Amino acid sequence: MKQIVEELEIKRAEARLGGGQKRIDAQHARGKLTARERIDLLLDEDSFEEYDMFVEHRCSDFGMQEQKFAGDGVVTGSGTINGRLVYVYSQDFTVFGGSLSATHAQKIIKVMDMAMKVGAPVIGLNDSGGARIQEGVAALGGYADVFQKNVLASGVVPQISMIMGPCAGGAVYSPAMTDFIFMVEDTSYMFVTGPDVVKTVTNEVVTQEELGGASTHTTKSGVADKSFANDVEALVQMRRFFDFLPLNNRESAPKRPTFDKSARVEKSLDTVIPSNPNKPYDMHEVINKIVDEGDFFELQPRHAGNILIGLARMDGETVGIVANQPMVLAGCLDIDSSKKAARFVRFCDCFNIPIVTLVDVPGFLPGTAQEYGGIIKHGAKLLFAYGEATVPKITIITRKAYGGAYDVMASKHLRGDLNYAWPTAEIAVMGAKGAVEILYRKEKDDPEKIAVRTKDYEDLFANPFVAAQRGFIDDVIMPHNTRLRVIKGLKKLANKELENPWKKHDNIPL
Ligand code: HXC
Repeated sequence: MKQIVEELEIKRAEARLGGGQKRIDAQHARGKLTARERIDLLLDEDSFEEYDMFVEHRCSDFGMQEQKFAGDGVVTGSGTINGRLVYVYSQDFTVFGGSLSATHAQKIIKVMDMAMKVGAPVIGLNDSGGARIQEGVAALGGYADVFQKNVLASGVVPQISMIMGPCAGGAVYSPAMTDFIFMVEDTSYMFVTGPDVVKTVTNEVVTQEELGGASTHTTKSGVADKSFANDVEALVQMRRFFDFLPLNNRESAPKRPTFDKSARVEKSLDTVIPSNPNKPYDMHEVINKIVDEGDFFELQPRHAGNILIGLARMDGETVGIVANQPMVLAGCLDIDSSKKAARFVRFCDCFNIPIVTLVDVPGFLPGTAQEYGGIIKHGAKLLFAYGEATVPKITIITRKAYGGAYDVMASKHLRGDLNYAWPTAEIAVMGAKGAVEILYRKEKDDPEKIAVRTKDYEDLFANPFVAAQRGFIDDVIMPHNTRLRVIKGLKKLANKELENPWKKHDNIPL
């Protein structure tokens, strides 16, 4: 017995070394933590229980039988974050570059299966060169098995990916199917294939950072939801993010006690809207002033800035915030902002997170670039997402709600539960200038007449009352009361029951 225990300890110590001290030192020299160090930072102290520490690959080609590492390049198991259960896998770049073999895939699938069985989120810490080249199709099959599991887990338990190294091939497609992707700046990359192959195939010369660094994916492509300066910050922020989420699709997000009074009056909101309707203001200010303690976990802050999305709490309960941002492109809806918000609305709806929508939208962005890019289909994504969502939906129109974008932004017609407007709201088919130009084209050369027409139009529509008369707006509320009214609404809607007709699944315009 004593001998077996000693052997066990030796085996454990070997497994903990992954690909060996030299490669660990190289990992550290790049400013990266090891797979195990990352898990230690992510999870509560001493909560990690590891599975499959002694699993080895079964490949015998390319002399692989001589190169076996216990654990086979991925550390898997479960633990807690602030006391709540989570399943994790953390790829070990020191073992074959964290590449995925058939057994490596089985380990990941095992934790995903367990997570789905008990209803707990899965966090993947990705640091992988993709399919293990020596294994060929066995590795490809392994990836496909992981992808399939990602699909089945989608909407059942939250899946979150942290990209913490150079990830290629399958190593980016599995994260792409999870709910959120975060990246570490300067050390993590995501691409279907790296710069060398790009040069060979397209003759394009591009650096890893340009092709798939955090800056690329958090600004241009929108593939990543947020990036962090280093491993430590990334893992600390992951813990903060996790606290907003429910464990699975049958539970609510945890309530967090707050000192921020629900009846807090925020007088400064009464003057946040500029008197000139074409002047922008920062919607962040409105969000920060209505949510608990100004704590807004913004997602995709550097991509499609004309819409803001993220998680916050109101009276301790998690809410999803969607808000037009007048500071960027006047807050219009375009292809990128529609896609960004649509996916977020669907996430909230999957996981019982009420949605609070702040509206100041002049319409859809016109023009050939948008039409050729398919704004019709992409804009429809957001319309569809709001229309199918059955979670509580509270909408506040702060200023403009024009045209189709009025309909889209969680309007009453899309089963908005509570639709409020500030006194500064303007709800119309379009702004006064555009409307008068169309309606009174013949008078276009008479500035005096046009000025009168514009004033008449503004008097009629530049207010919330026409919509309120029809019941499209439940109440006109004072900006300083917004926090209280939303919290009251959320409490009333806590037991909301609404079901869509039975279907296998819908067919959202992709
Ligand atoms: C086996 C791999 C590997 C892989 C890296 N290594 N990738 N071993 N299979 N896919 C090994 C290296 O041999 C090396 O071993 C160690 O990991 C570190 O790799 P380096 O190249 O020295 O590191 P670095 O310079 O940082 O470059 C990292 C990298 C690069 C960018 C990830 O290694 C790379 O381009 N790898 C190949 C990426 C790729 O094309 N993968 C296949 C994708 S196809 P030693 O022994 O020296 O430590 C795919 C199909 C899925 O995934 C289908 C999806 C739909």
